[in-house]
Amino acid sequence: MSDFNLNMNDLLSKKVLMLEESPTFALEKKADEIDMQLKKEGNSVIRFGIGQPDFNTPINIKDAAKRAIDENKTRYTSSTGIIELKKAIVNKFNNENNIKYDIENVFAGNGAKQVLDVIIRTFINTGDIVIIPKPYWVSYTQQVLLSEGKPVTVNFNSDLKIDINDLNEVIKVNKNKIKLLILNSPNNPTGAVYSKKELEDIGDICLKNNIYIISDEVYEHFIYDNIKHFSIASLSDELKKLTITVNAVSKTYAMTGWRIGYCAADKDIIKQMAKIQDQSASNPCTPAQWAAVEALNGNQDSVEIMRKEYEKRRDYIYKRLSNIGGISCNLPHGAFYVFPDISALFNDKIKNSFNFAEQLLEKAKVAVVPGGAFGDDNYIRISYATTIEKIEEGMNRLEKFCKEL
Ligand SMILES: Cc1ncc(COP(=O)(O)O)c(C=O)c1O
Repeated sequence: MSDFNLNMNDLLSKKVLMLEESPTFALEKKADEIDMQLKKEGNSVIRFGIGQPDFNTPINIKDAAKRAIDENKTRYTSSTGIIELKKAIVNKFNNENNIKYDIENVFAGNGAKQVLDVIIRTFINTGDIVIIPKPYWVSYTQQVLLSEGKPVTVNFNSDLKIDINDLNEVIKVNKNKIKLLILNSPNNPTGAVYSKKELEDIGDICLKNNIYIISDEVYEHFIYDNIKHFSIASLSDELKKLTITVNAVSKTYAMTGWRIGYCAADKDIIKQMAKIQDQSASNPCTPAQWAAVEALNGNQDSVEIMRKEYEKRRDYIYKRLSNIGGISCNLPHGAFYVFPDISALFNDKIKNSFNFAEQLLEKAKVAVVPGGAFGDDNYIRISYATTIEKIEEGMNRLEKFCKEL
């Protein structure tokens, strides 16, 4: 018998061992377990955890995928996507974002998440710094670490947006090692939307310091109160050169499972990204690419229907949260999240956002994501991509839970 006695920690890559499990998926697992129990009593967990539209993919998009399969459009494609999809992406950036690109400037991948990973891998050498404003979407820091880069965070101001003084300070301290800054507007987890002036200020700083910008705009269509979305790449030719604009069909068209995301950038960047895609994923799923062509080129009515519904839910949830003692909340202008401050409710047993989320799930059967997962422990993230009835029941339970603390 061999003395096979290897320690897994010695065997596996240090990079993978230090990677954090997705807090939203961990929470969903726990909520599933509690739900199994509750179902027997005719009850269920109210889930505000996962950030995914509760709407179905529109019929015209599903039909396009079915047609693609029937026409045997099921083979490998160019690693950066079919020409029809690239044309649709070029038109989208031109018409909706006022950024002019050519086919060779665009890249389609397996969801915005995978596109972001390829971008980061294209730029980052060991020890290179990526600036990530707090609070941040959880995958940014983990993807940078997987590329052996160093995520450096920047604090936020009272609007839950990047604190410009802190950004300048971080740049002063780390100057030559900074490669990238990741911007996300409308923002997950805060719902904050950056104005043109705010983007210009950030853009000026990046231009002065030669910092490339990844602009993650996956929530651009879900904006409320008649506010306008601006793409930082549209603000000047210099900023266009310095920016990689990322988007996806996932949120806009309720297509999270189809896994189509895309980006546009200088063609030399795209060329290098294509090499990574060639050697890893090959190409995004072919029928899903045809579905994405229809999503981008076809009738857009479903987007406005969803936007209006999210706005109604946002209004309701914000009103309810504002009336719960101990909770303070900024009005989110975009995406489908609220990010309330719950720190006034901390006590002997609840010392941070993780304790709060655990107790809320166990006692009140409401699932939220602790703010600590996004870089600030005084908050929780609530996703309102669920029905108004569930939001009402969830808010009733949260209110009771907070009163009893
Ligand atoms: C800010 C942000 N960027 C990117 C993504 C990933 O999108 P996709 O599903 O297209 O990979 C998400 C998903 O939650 C997100 O919240």
